Parts: sequence; structure tokens; C-alpha cells
Amino acid sequence: MSRVLVAPSILSGDFAKMGETVANVERWGADLVHCDVMDGVFVPNITFGMPMIKAIRPYTKLPLDVHLMITEPEKYVERFCDAGADYVTFHPEASKDARDALLKIKAKGVKCGLVVNPDKDFSLVEDYMDLVDMIVLMGVFPGFGGQSYIESVSDNIAFFAKKIKESGRNILLELDGGVTQQNAEKFRSLGITVLVAGSATFKAEDPAQAIKVIGG
Ligand code: DX5
Ligand code: ZN
Repeated sequence: MSRVLVAPSILSGDFAKMGETVANVERWGADLVHCDVMDGVFVPNITFGMPMIKAIRPYTKLPLDVHLMITEPEKYVERFCDAGADYVTFHPEASKDARDALLKIKAKGVKCGLVVNPDKDFSLVEDYMDLVDMIVLMGVFPGFGGQSYIESVSDNIAFFAKKIKESGRNILLELDGGVTQQNAEKFRSLGITVLVAGSATFKAEDPAQAIKVIGG
């Protein structure tokens, strides 16, 4: 089994030192920086917006993987692209026009993707297999870091790994939420190609070693 990409979520990092945090993430050997944007409406928590993406951009060469947990993402996606995002993903059920949002991201030359909650209807994503560069499967209900992985999501992973293969397109399959050093191998064997690791990175005694173990 080949190594997968690891994307530490800065949600679990030190908000007073975000520049330093993303520089550390790169130094520890991660592949992407996962940035959790929450608006307090789509999810019951508020984090940060475009100014944070713009502020951290100069501190790392790693791609910024921006996960929007906001209502009507189509209104904001272009501003996240301009702020320096390399991937912009959003929840289609939060959007009035998911295709419009995906096309706006692509027109900026940025990679786009859709996110599926543990209990969500797959068809919202299946309709856009021709457009997406990444599919994100939530391993927990979005809103907070440090939650436990919901076991039934493994069926979603197997389903989308197969769908992506059938599409013949080069689509990343990311798992977000509940990833640990202990369970990462299971996800790699199910066909995940990107593992988000918030608390598993930042709460580890040796974050570089944790990233290495999670990536496989
Ligand atoms: C949850 C966020 C996740 C979260 C992951 O709403 O989308 O990215 O930060 O945190 P861990 O890895 O601690 O489960
Ligand atoms: Zn996330």
C-alpha cells in the first residue's frame, strides 16, 4: 500500500501563532494544510475566514486545503481563492447552486471539492463527479476537532473509492475527522488518499512522527 497525503487541521493549532503553526506543519513533513472555516450558522462553531488564509499564505509552500463549513459558499469561494487557497471544498447542501460554486473555484485555477457528512445523501456529490478534484468524507459531524470516528463512515469510504475508480478521473478522497495513529491504516486500505489529522497531529508528543505513522 502506498503512502497517503496527510493534512493537519490548524483548528487544533495555536490561534495566536498561526504563521508559526503552518510553518511547523511543513517542517513536520505534512503534505497539505487543512483550514476549517466555520460560520456559526451551517455548524455550531465559528473559526476564521479569508483574512486568516491570506495571513498564513506566506508562511508555507504547502497547498492550503480550505474546508468551508458555511452557508451559501458560492458567495465567498472566489475570495477564498484570491486569499491563497489551493483547494476549496464545501458542503453541497449548504449551497443554492453547487455547480456554480464549483465552476467559480475552477475558473480561478483552484482545485474544487465537495464534502459529505456521515449521514448525507451521496447523490449530492455523485452528480458532480465530472467536476470535482477532491471528495471529502466527514468521519465526524462537522463543527469541532477531537471527536471520535463514526464507524459507519467506512461504508462511505468504500463506496466513493469505487466510484472514483470507475470515473477514471484523478480525484482525491479525503477523510476528515476522527483520524488517529491507530486507525489510519484501516482508512488507507479502504482507499483514502488524504487523511486530515487535527488533534492527532497537534496533541502528539512528536508531531513529525505522528504524521509519518498516519501517512503510512
Ligand atoms: C471538523 C473539522 C475537522 C477537524 C478534524 O469540523 O472539519 O477538520 O478539525 O479534527 P480531528 O482530526 O481532531 O478529528
Ligand atoms: Zn475539516
